Amino acid sequence: MTIPPVALHAAAERFGTPLYVYDAAELDAALARVRAAFGEARVYYAMKANPNLTLLRRLQAAGVGFECVSPGELARAEAVGAAGERILVNGPAKSSAEYAVGARLGATFIIDRVEEVGLLPANSRALVRVNPALEVSTHDHLATGAAGSKFGVTLAQAPRVLDALREAGHTALGLHVHIGSAIRDAHDFTAAFGRLSELRAETGPLAVLDAGGGWGLDADLAGIAAEAWATAQAFGAQLWVEPGRYLVARAGTLLTRVVGTKTTGRNFCLVDAGMTELLRPMLYGALHPVTPLWDGPDAGVWDIAGPACESGDLLARDVALPQPTRGALLAIGEAGAYGAAMGSNYLTRPRPAEALYDQGNGDGAEWTLIRRRETPQDVWAAELPG
Ligand code: LLP
Repeated sequence: MTIPPVALHAAAERFGTPLYVYDAAELDAALARVRAAFGEARVYYAMKANPNLTLLRRLQAAGVGFECVSPGELARAEAVGAAGERILVNGPAKSSAEYAVGARLGATFIIDRVEEVGLLPANSRALVRVNPALEVSTHDHLATGAAGSKFGVTLAQAPRVLDALREAGHTALGLHVHIGSAIRDAHDFTAAFGRLSELRAETGPLAVLDAGGGWGLDADLAGIAAEAWATAQAFGAQLWVEPGRYLVARAGTLLTRVVGTKTTGRNFCLVDAGMTELLRPMLYGALHPVTPLWDGPDAGVWDIAGPACESGDLLARDVALPQPTRGALLAIGEAGAYGAAMGSNYLTRPRPAEALYDQGNGDGAEWTLIRRRETPQDVWAAELPG
């Protein structure tokens, strides 16, 4: 967590909790780390990780493109002024609207099955997503490159799909691979890139290798980049990458206040955020660092539980804390990726506000509200009288 505690207290006071806060400096630093490691590679931010328009504008201004997987994400890319070479249209089951909007914006398509050759708008630029059929070191729900997953074409099919694209009058730019997310072992990338390289004899040279994203927060980016570049060079290709989590996770913190405590078979610290604000612990068993923003002697270990009527509504287990008291503030770290993005309105819980901390914005105001807190009326606004 890179924002000073005094500023976190001020934000919670001003905007209320639960609250997502993002550190602009850490966002910029993460992009700088990616650029330092990957050099000239083109960076497409996988906006599914966090699609807040302010963050998108910041990345867009820094020269980053966007990987989009829904009509809504394409609308966001368009809203921040991205077009043409700056947009990738991806996804395993694209709608007609996505092909049409992608064509209007001049985007590049990543095709996921051979049938898409016939669905693409005329004269499209396209990459072929390859499934390298590998087991990878992450949660099952986050593995996309296994033989049994729904993604990509097989290694055997890939050269023929490139040919089919050309025969249909499209520009077959090259290959795409994304083996999963939050990958712990960098050797998984080595294995996947290695399998792609084996296709070189059949495909001949290609213009682009898109190596996807999936890097864990502690990943050896330089090592992954070296492998990705070696593979791109084997094809004589330019390298593209699609990081999501890496660019935004550490910049984001979820602030939540203690509602109270209770002890059943375990000690619970009850807070005002839960599965509706941060689903990852419940859905993937994800571990997010928890920092108490109050002092005191150690008062044992606590499970951090949210307000939902679901036993699985936990943000963390076995966290050592000083005695929690009502109103005390907790910071849940590494929450900038797939946190707010996966928030829901379950239980008619309005989604939280989001604020950006930027000491460098020059106007002396550190905090900017970048998404207002929803109201219950917002949540039911699309419902009709019936
Ligand atoms: N490219 C493609 C084709 C993807 O499917 C994804 C993520 C990315 C890039 C970015 O991956 P990243 O660098 O963020 O790992 N909701 C899950 C993550 C799902 C990721 C889906 N695809 C979570 O909370 O961990």
